Amino acid sequence: MRKQFAVIGNPIEQSRSPELHHAFAQSLGLELDYQKRLAPLDGFEQSMQQFFDAQGLGLNVTVPFKEQAYARCDVLTERAKIAKAVNTLWRVDGQLYGDNTDGQGLVDAIKALDWPLQHSKILIIGAGGATRGVIYPLAQAGADKIVIANRTVERATQLVADLQPAVAGTTLSACGLDQLQGEFDLVINATSASLSGDALILPEALQFNFAYEMAYGKASSFLEQAQLRGVAHSDGYGMLVGQAVEAFAIWHGVRPALKQFL
Ligand code: ATR
Repeated sequence: MRKQFAVIGNPIEQSRSPELHHAFAQSLGLELDYQKRLAPLDGFEQSMQQFFDAQGLGLNVTVPFKEQAYARCDVLTERAKIAKAVNTLWRVDGQLYGDNTDGQGLVDAIKALDWPLQHSKILIIGAGGATRGVIYPLAQAGADKIVIANRTVERATQLVADLQPAVAGTTLSACGLDQLQGEFDLVINATSASLSGDALILPEALQFNFAYEMAYGKASSFLEQAQLRGVAHSDGYGMLVGQAVEAFAIWHGVRPALKQFL
């Protein structure tokens, strides 16, 4: 039997992970089987146990189970602890290990675009789980300043208070969406606005050189505004490939070349 891998979520039909992992394996001459796994909303734990009990080797976790996966792990990487969410699971000697590769996936996607991160000033719009997962890797990549702007400013303030101790070399600050202004190297849209089809209006007083939308395959008013301003911009497909490359490297000990799959 081929080595078994899967991605678990609800819904799961839209997942691109099986095609990515199969393409990585093919490019490296490895054989594996990677399936989609639909778990009932109240059945994550049971479905995960079944997978590992049936000799499954590695499991990716997607919406809405990343926090449950985090809570269930025996051993967590530093970045998973900070993210408080896990998207990559494996077992060693009966112990469940968890990592979060989303943030490094974003960093690698941005580097593949040749956009600068070292000494950068970054604005992240949104203060949910997606933002929490990327702060530490962006800080590790050399960001000097990260401003978190959110519709509900209290959530941004709370996130800054939570995460500042983990990123001592980077200055975090919070503001409301209505206070957006100033000059940034990079603006990242980490809200779920594009997923729900909502517009996100960027004021003229906000200036930036690069714009990254974490969502992909959806119309994005954020990207439309970047395009109208003539600013370099990208949707989140590279981040998806980046997090998959990172998970693959953990499980297989070899790293597919990200740029080959963009
Ligand atoms: P995720 O885990 O994907 O980050 P989340 O925790 O539900 O999801 O967070 C969604 C984020 O998108 C939040 O920052 C939310 O803002 P609020 O905290 O004010 O709710 C933001 N968001 C969603 N729809 C938005 C919209 N139409 N305009 C602005 N921000 C929006």
